[in-house]
Amino acid sequence: MADSGLTGPVEIPDPEPPNDPKDLRSRWRRLRESVSGTARALPRVFSLSWQASRPLTVTLVLVTVVSGLIPTATAYVAKILMDAVVEAIQIHSTGRADQTVLHIPLIGDHTVTSVGKIVGIAAFQLVIFVTQSVTTMLTTVSQQLLQERMTLSIRHQVMDHASRMHLAFFEDSASYDLLRQADREAPMRPMSMMSSALGLGRMTITFTSMIVLLVTVSPLLAVVALLAPVPLFISQSKYGAQSFILSYLVSPIRRRMDYLSSLVTTDSYAKEVKLFGLGPYLVDRFERLGKVYYERQRGLIRKKNVAGTLWGLISTVAGSAIYLYIALKAVSGELTLGDLALYTAAAASVQSSIGGLFGSFSGMYENNLYLDTLYRFLDTKPEISRPESPAALPDPLRGHITFDNVTFAYPGADEPALKDVSFDIQPGETVAVVGKNGAGKSTLIKLLCRLYDPTGGRILLDGVDIRTLDPGDLQRRISAMFQDHVSYQATAAENIGLGDLDHLTDRPVIEKAAERAGIADRIDRLPRGYDSPLGRWFDEGVSLSGGEWQKIALGRAFLREAPILVLDEPTSALDAQAEHDLFVRLRQLAEGRTTLYISHRFSTVRQADRIILLEHGKLLEQGTHAELMVLDGGYAELFTLQASAYLDA
Ligand SMILES: Nc1ncnc2c1ncn2[C@@H]1O[C@H](COP(=O)(O)OP(=O)(O)O)[C@@H](O)[C@H]1O
Ligand SMILES: [Mg+2]
Repeated sequence: MADSGLTGPVEIPDPEPPNDPKDLRSRWRRLRESVSGTARALPRVFSLSWQASRPLTVTLVLVTVVSGLIPTATAYVAKILMDAVVEAIQIHSTGRADQTVLHIPLIGDHTVTSVGKIVGIAAFQLVIFVTQSVTTMLTTVSQQLLQERMTLSIRHQVMDHASRMHLAFFEDSASYDLLRQADREAPMRPMSMMSSALGLGRMTITFTSMIVLLVTVSPLLAVVALLAPVPLFISQSKYGAQSFILSYLVSPIRRRMDYLSSLVTTDSYAKEVKLFGLGPYLVDRFERLGKVYYERQRGLIRKKNVAGTLWGLISTVAGSAIYLYIALKAVSGELTLGDLALYTAAAASVQSSIGGLFGSFSGMYENNLYLDTLYRFLDTKPEISRPESPAALPDPLRGHITFDNVTFAYPGADEPALKDVSFDIQPGETVAVVGKNGAGKSTLIKLLCRLYDPTGGRILLDGVDIRTLDPGDLQRRISAMFQDHVSYQATAAENIGLGDLDHLTDRPVIEKAAERAGIADRIDRLPRGYDSPLGRWFDEGVSLSGGEWQKIALGRAFLREAPILVLDEPTSALDAQAEHDLFVRLRQLAEGRTTLYISHRFSTVRQADRIILLEHGKLLEQGTHAELMVLDGGYAELFTLQASAYLDA
């Protein structure tokens, strides 16, 4: 969407619901599609539940069937109890012999007194009530336990899959969104889907059994009970779907309001917001957008509820008419008082099952949309993965790197970031890469580490195409520091130790790496030395400066004794002294390793064995400092520019 909400009109329109069908036939088709789509998701959800726990799944299904029958049983018992009471009153008032028949299903008829009959029925009612409590308890327990297990198992699957995904997946906004949704929204959904599906099953059982029971009393009543809630159903399906669509597609105006509010309430923005005095402006914008948002919500809520109530009124009127009808029939003796009680219970439960039926279905439909994103994420194949039978690298690795006509374009980019780049780095050589911002320097390093695959050409390591290697195996041979390194919320020792899991807790090795990165003295001065927590997530976390964090990241790269060392602008945040010290040490560190570094400081670049100049993704010049100066091309120009700046000063 083109406009950010920071300026311009506040009347940002809501999106049209996607392909909202107008005519009845396409409405019906969409309904069918969503029903069948949702139904197709069910087996997957049940199998997830089955995997999570068989006993709990079985319990839940059994309990559902039982609790589906309870309302019908309750209504039936209420009816026979009432009839028995009426019978007892009649017996007592007429004074005839106190003998009645108690019919016990499956056992047979018993002759009992009228009070005995009432006691028997009441006992039966007690059994039903107890069963109801037990099933409610069992449902809650098994649902909660299953919920926990399924959520854990899905989060585990999502993490596991995300850890295998290629870098470009995270950089593409659409696929990254997919991952975010799968991670945040999806884990709860399968259980919620299961609950809705079981709810649907339960209500269907109640509904069907209730209708069967009504038919035995009076077929007419069954038909009426079925028809009365129809208007309610129609209004629910209409407005329920509408409000669901609106809450699912969070309105653009809301999204902009959220952004405005995050600008004012997030720590990392606070500095600029204060400096530029943005606070009052952002708050005012928020308020104006908020007014528009409220007006729209008000209209919608009013429309939905007023219309829903009006439609519901039709059902209510129909229902009341029936009561009157039964009451009159009871007076004339065609129906019993028990039948009236039965109908009362049945009508209420048929009506609420119809309402619930729709609620369950729309819940399932919504959950299915989220589950769809989960499965789409889990079905996305990593583009860079271990080949079936990976090639082996020579051991020890010599460290001979070849770029052979390498071209690379970022997904979706018009221009390639690297075009036909070819060069060779001999084992043990130190090469510096120079070039303007956006020339493709960082891209070159990411390709070497196989975070992406070239679009054209190939990269060889000791003569082996790196695409035929196990990426993990390749990456273990490289010590790398990226331009946008990470600051982990962890102790100083852990921050360095994460550079090589084999040495995560190996203090002497970590101290050596810190020494090499020139951060050892600073760490020693921290309150708890290497065990000091770094970063603000901790109560007593130490805040480091940008340069100090960069040295920590360097320490992480130096932890690994890999035959290849790549550093992307390793000194960009360092002061002149620290930079000088680092490059002095780097000469020792580079000993016996193939080293590739990117730098804008020509005083250090000139010390490299060879220099590569990139411009607009093309390799323009390569050679020693002396050779490139003699060539008097782009490198000589950049070098002279920087040198003269120092001279002028
Ligand atoms: N993750 C990315 N996705 C899309 N384009 C990118 C990405 N990273 C860099 N680019 C583009 O590729 C080009 C080269 O970038 P890069 O290699 O980072 O340059 P530099 O020489 O400054 O390190 C730039 O035009 C940049 O906009
Ligand atoms: Mg860069």
